[in-house]
Amino acid sequence: MRHFLDIDKTERDDLKAILAQARATKDARGDVPKGTPDAEQPLANRMVALIFEKPSTRTRVSFDVGVRQMGGQTLVLTGQEMQLGHGESIADTARVLNRYVDLIMIRTFDETALLELADRATVPVINGLTDRSHPCQIMADLMTFEEHRGPIAGKKVVFTGDGNNVAASFIHAAGQFGFDFTFTGPAQLDPDTRILDEARARGVEAEIVRDPQEAIKGADLVVTDTWVSMHDALSTRERRHNLLRPYQVNEHLMSGAKPDALFMHCLPAHRGEEVTDAVMDGPQSVVFDEAENRLHAQKAIMRWCLDV
Ligand code: CP
Ligand code: NVA
Repeated sequence: MRHFLDIDKTERDDLKAILAQARATKDARGDVPKGTPDAEQPLANRMVALIFEKPSTRTRVSFDVGVRQMGGQTLVLTGQEMQLGHGESIADTARVLNRYVDLIMIRTFDETALLELADRATVPVINGLTDRSHPCQIMADLMTFEEHRGPIAGKKVVFTGDGNNVAASFIHAAGQFGFDFTFTGPAQLDPDTRILDEARARGVEAEIVRDPQEAIKGADLVVTDTWVSMHDALSTRERRHNLLRPYQVNEHLMSGAKPDALFMHCLPAHRGEEVTDAVMDGPQSVVFDEAENRLHAQKAIMRWCLDV
């Protein structure tokens, strides 16, 4: 069973094959109207369930469009609409969905729900974000970096702000793709040290540098994300903002990176908080390419999961 649960849980060669497939199908498709079916229809007659226990714009639309371009059909469900949101267990939900669909993508809170679903599912399960990680996003980000700058191996990626789920998947990717990773943010919001240790064990530098000006020196890629994630209590907003304000990506901070450094944000962005308009809309920003590449990367992930 090929689940796509996390970047560190997927073989390096498979990750590279997925990205190569994503590039090839993006190139082959060219600039046709979005609703045009792909020349190949690898998901013909396949039914895909897209389950959201948290809000989404990009993940929801890119998975739905991607399945349709490949000839499949989707069911988009929110947790609250399902019995899942009213006490039915994940295990029972999985055993029911097994009978109806060929593939399940889920966005949920605690990763144990994802793991339990994958454990009970007889069809592949894709992680569409948990409190802990966001692997589909980082696959799209790797694709985007390589489109603009070539291989990411050996480059320096700096993540500034909250050591959250997006940071965790970047650290997973550092170990798999061989790039160095620097986190800069307040000690209270550091990424899980075990994830950093695992990346180091794979031979890359994974470090924490408190001073953002120091951290950003030599960066090939600067990444940030929201200061308050969907799983964070809103009551922590003010405390988080106070801690994170020194880590805003603005023109001054970006000027400390390499002159050709790229800027990424998974979106949705909170302009004027973690990033300024000048950086979001500036020449180094590739945020909308990242959003587009969610579509291409996830199409390749789905094909890999179904081996089609
Ligand atoms: N980046 C991302 O996953 O966006 P959505 O929350 O809109 O899906
Ligand atoms: N860290 C953010 C990512 C949103 C795509 C969150 O979990 O809310």
